[in-house]
Amino acid sequence: MAVYLVTGAAGFIGANYLHLLADWEPDAQIVAVDYIGFAGNEANLDPVRDRIAFEKADIADFDAMAAIYRRYGPDYVVNFAAESHNDRAIVSPGAFMRSNAMGAQVMAECSRLMPVTAHVHVSTIEVYGELAQGAQWFHEGSPLNAKTPYSAAKAAGDQMVRAYMQTYPELSIRMTHCANNYGPYQMPEKLIPMAVTNLLRGRKVPIYGDGSQSRDWLHVADHCAAIHRVLHTHLDPIPAAAATDPALLPIFDVSGRCEVTNMEVARRVIAELELDPGEWIEHIPDRPNHDRRYLIDPRKIESTLGWRPEHDFESSIGEVVRWYRDNRGWWEKVLAEKGELGFDWTDAGVVER
Ligand SMILES: NC(=O)c1ccc[n+]([C@@H]2O[C@H](COP(=O)([O-])OP(=O)(O)OC[C@H]3O[C@@H](n4cnc5c(N)ncnc54)[C@H](O)[C@@H]3O)[C@@H](O)[C@H]2O)c1
Repeated sequence: MAVYLVTGAAGFIGANYLHLLADWEPDAQIVAVDYIGFAGNEANLDPVRDRIAFEKADIADFDAMAAIYRRYGPDYVVNFAAESHNDRAIVSPGAFMRSNAMGAQVMAECSRLMPVTAHVHVSTIEVYGELAQGAQWFHEGSPLNAKTPYSAAKAAGDQMVRAYMQTYPELSIRMTHCANNYGPYQMPEKLIPMAVTNLLRGRKVPIYGDGSQSRDWLHVADHCAAIHRVLHTHLDPIPAAAATDPALLPIFDVSGRCEVTNMEVARRVIAELELDPGEWIEHIPDRPNHDRRYLIDPRKIESTLGWRPEHDFESSIGEVVRWYRDNRGWWEKVLAEKGELGFDWTDAGVVER
């Protein structure tokens, strides 16, 4: 029986992955780890409670993670755990460095000392920084150029994982960089669930600045399927040429090639709720140092692993909006526990709205 260790399991993507994994691998033992930080939500585990062992632990705590590896002996490890909210990273960057950088190293170290069949480090398009207007897209060989505290901490974790790939080539560690995800169970501090949950309470959708920032959007189920495929693919040894060409490392960029501005996302969500976009958008001061554009090239994962997205934004956004409409109890509980989740950068200060 294969043993899966999934970290960050009570967050948005980790929980979606667990729900899918329980179906994909009905005979597997699944160990879910999360320290239940700000974005952690134990209720996200409810649909698979009877299929998982839950361990509340911090991935940056080597002793705690080594004990979990010893107890369960995982075959497959997927490390989703990270602090993930760009606004919150501006307020408290230290927590991001601990989870996203040190946590990545501790997880790689555990998989080195207690070898696993495969380990996927889940990373983000944002480590490449901001894509210039007119530039086509980022790819696995692009330099890391993170400029926000969230993405810089993720890039620090990525660099350490790249070092593990090349220093300990017998360790089967892989990495993904994914576009922005949308889907169910996302904390309503992120654009789409914030828009829906505001509208359902008769509030406007707050849009930073003019809303022309553009993002590359992928349905969370497609991201999870890509990760599962990366986890289970037999990969050739890393060639010597990877020393100067990171595109040859076991790194896979994941995207549906779907570039949409924040303003357009807000308009789509509002229209799905049959409201007038002209009346329901509120422009608020932009957060400092806001990346303006991301887009990533998925050709490597498509051509070498045969992955393709199954959802397109146009036809899937409505279903996601309806999930939040139909699961009001889920997000009302989050808001009751955490309070309102917006930020006000009027004075470029640190005031939560
Ligand atoms: N959301 C996106 O659009 C997106 C896109 C590409 C990549 N990613 C990456 O995917 C991963 C998951 O993102 P998400 O959107 O689900 O984030 P999330 O914030 O919803 O969930 C992250 C989870 O990790 C947990 N966590 C954080 N630090 C931890 C630690 N030190 N120990 C144990 N648990 C810890 C949190 O409690 C939370 O439950 C992250 O690594 C993120 O960088 C996210």
